[in-house]
Amino acid sequence: MAETDPAPFYVTTAISYPNGRPHIGHAYEAIAADVIARFQRMRGRDVRFQTGTDEHGLKMARKAAEQGRTARDLADEMSGYFRDMCDALDVRYDRFIRTVEDDHHRASRAIWQRMEAAGDLYLDRYEGWYSVRDEAYYDESELVEGESGERLSPQGTPVEWTVEESWFFRLSKYQDRLLELLRTPGFLEPASRRNEMIAFVEQGLRDLSVSRTSFDWGVKVPGSDGTDSGHVMYVWVDALTNYLTGLGFPDETGDMAKFWPADLHLIGKDIVRFHTIYWPAFLMSADLPVPKKVFGHGFLLNRGQKESKSLGNVTDPLALAERFGVDALRYFLLREVAFGQDGSYSPEAIVTRANAELANSFGNLAQRTLSMIAKNMDGHLEAFEPAEVDRKLLSLVGDACLRELPQAFEALAFSTGIEAWLRAVHACNQYVDEQAPWTLRKTDPERMKAVLLTLFMALRDLAIAIRPVVPTKAADLLDQLGVPADERQYEHLQDPDWFRRLVMAGFTVNSPTPIFPRLELPEAAQGAA
Ligand code: MF3
Repeated sequence: MAETDPAPFYVTTAISYPNGRPHIGHAYEAIAADVIARFQRMRGRDVRFQTGTDEHGLKMARKAAEQGRTARDLADEMSGYFRDMCDALDVRYDRFIRTVEDDHHRASRAIWQRMEAAGDLYLDRYEGWYSVRDEAYYDESELVEGESGERLSPQGTPVEWTVEESWFFRLSKYQDRLLELLRTPGFLEPASRRNEMIAFVEQGLRDLSVSRTSFDWGVKVPGSDGTDSGHVMYVWVDALTNYLTGLGFPDETGDMAKFWPADLHLIGKDIVRFHTIYWPAFLMSADLPVPKKVFGHGFLLNRGQKESKSLGNVTDPLALAERFGVDALRYFLLREVAFGQDGSYSPEAIVTRANAELANSFGNLAQRTLSMIAKNMDGHLEAFEPAEVDRKLLSLVGDACLRELPQAFEALAFSTGIEAWLRAVHACNQYVDEQAPWTLRKTDPERMKAVLLTLFMALRDLAIAIRPVVPTKAADLLDQLGVPADERQYEHLQDPDWFRRLVMAGFTVNSPTPIFPRLELPEAAQGAA
């Protein structure tokens, strides 16, 4: 499991509409994608990770008009908050794309021209329902009735009747190929999302309206003679193309050759249709390979409720990070929610988990071990002969760190992987209690050393394994353990010699500083409904 795999790995998040500030759902997706990217880097893969903002379309145009400003001005301001959010949460992207950028307009025109050259675009008149909130067309049969009898989209958003001359894409032509793709194991996960998409395709695909003429906030559709046609692209056509823009498309060498098709598009479950039906069809039309996997994660609920301005329960992810710490927040989100399902969070839940698992179990283990080494061994490491129990503990820890966690993370089962890691942490704590090194100090100092050094070795494995989730805290601990910065990959867990080298180098353990201080529940959070 821990062999290095130099194959390139391209992971993306959905790009967000910057029509408001980021909320916890955006943070959740960005953090999960970052954990995936860090995990694959730690496996030795050459990773590219892209995120960004989706700035065109009617929703942005209207929001800006409401505020009496230009769409560009709104986008400039709000996009900045999304980038700040990523930076504040240690989300280490390789490219933060904004769809207003020139290279993105170029890429979008190029894919359009390829679809046109394939004979897949024609002019017609669109008459039907449109949801501005979803930026989506819906068939009459998909609509549901709202509380006062109004028509709503299947996502519960308002729809409006739209009549407009537009370009159409021959989606219907790709029906069979799409069904085959949707049935390919691993393409769309979790598998529970598959049936709905298959049913949608099976009931017959209608061609898709892919341009608008009633507003101009978008990528201009190229006229056949290179002039402005008066159409802008339907926002999803340009948005989806962002995944290619970042690789230099239409240039097909360089990053495009290296990283396309994407290994993983990580998205929310509400936009699976766009990513597993429209997007692959556009790519097939443009004669480009389709992504290897699309994963639709669940929603994060605030105490079981969706956040909304009207409920007044919208959480600023940066306020959570400030209050509880970036790494505690990252850990909580991946630990608490079975990835793919909906999950719930609250300040109490974050504090409870962070205190029980990070502060008490893991942090305390590190703190106790390192301070005993500093105090009772003058911080000196030395070669020792492990006893049977020591070997058993190290092999249990090694197995969790080298096999169980990486296997689960590879399958995007983060909570499962973290549980395996936590079992190993608990095993270490049980071992300290049973071995009672504080008693051995008087009765058998040699044995005390073996116990403490066994724990030292276990801590290093545990810190490396959990690094993708809590990068700063793990690095802090690994620094305290003297582990060189270039020996913190999964492959190094198999290095039999690392401890001996540290001893030879004369590394000494200093009196430790706690990595995960206990969290308190602030007043404000206690009062929140
Ligand atoms: N902006 C869309 C949303 O938030 C997502 C666009 S993802 C992309 O729902 F692939 F189209 F870029």
